[in-house]
Amino acid sequence: MMQLTGQTAVIVGGGSGVGAACAAALAELGAAVVLVGRRAERLKEVSASIGSLARWFAADGHSEEQMRAVFEQVGVFDHLLIPAAKTDRVGNFVEALTQDKFRETFEGKFWTQVNTAHAGAPFVRKGGSITFFSGAASRKAMRGMINIAAVNGALEALVPGLALELAPTRVNIIIPGTLDTPYYEGLDEAAKQAVFERTAGLLPVGRVGTAADIANAAVFLVTTGYVTGIALEVDGGLRLT
Ligand SMILES: NC(=O)c1ccc[n+]([C@@H]2O[C@H](COP(=O)([O-])OP(=O)(O)OC[C@H]3O[C@@H](n4cnc5c(N)ncnc54)[C@H](OP(=O)(O)O)[C@@H]3O)[C@@H](O)[C@H]2O)c1
Repeated sequence: MMQLTGQTAVIVGGGSGVGAACAAALAELGAAVVLVGRRAERLKEVSASIGSLARWFAADGHSEEQMRAVFEQVGVFDHLLIPAAKTDRVGNFVEALTQDKFRETFEGKFWTQVNTAHAGAPFVRKGGSITFFSGAASRKAMRGMINIAAVNGALEALVPGLALELAPTRVNIIIPGTLDTPYYEGLDEAAKQAVFERTAGLLPVGRVGTAADIANAAVFLVTTGYVTGIALEVDGGLRLT
């Protein structure tokens, strides 16, 4: 595996789940990691668990102004990863999905990742990389998930063109399936386990994913200089079911 000593990765959404796992995996390869999120206490904890290669900034990825201020302090860096998202499952299109709720999902994920990329792209060293994160709802039809499917599909759609525009910086997106991460912390334990068991039963791999599964994929995209403009499905085979 290629070492990343001397390189810097900024992970927006680095305070939990996938972002924290990406930060740990990249630091393991020697990269300095900069964690960004809104909740300082989470960033502090993850940063402490990684050690001297990590530092953090509390900022909102949805705010281009706040993100520009972070990037100005970091300076030119090598890899930008943007797992940041807040997406609520609202319910069926006609009964529950009001335009306000639909917009909320776009603000919480699409605009958060796009505004961060817009602020950050000028600071990414030529030949570095940007990695977005969508979700398998874009490719597997699921009831009550239309807002999330649309946001994920929109992010996937912008990646190939952005990879051309920003070249030689590489731009890719990971499409995670169901993961056991703090994303589900709003659910009580029994409801969460029921979702995971039902999903695991459907999947060819027989289990739900972990943040580490996605971090492996992120390390592949960061370290493989011959890959750009792709959407990488890391979903346990959900799309085959
Ligand atoms: N878990 C799953 O089953 C699943 C499935 C499909 C796709 N995904 C996608 O995978 C990615 C990672 O999800 P996860 O499971 O790791 O969820 P998570 O544990 O909830 O992590 C999301 C992180 O994003 C940060 N964040 C949210 N809004 C932000 C903003 N405006 N600015 C900066 N940081 C923000 C959160 O921290 P703060 O709240 O402190 O800012 C949190 O640390 C997301 O894009 C998610 O949609 C997850």
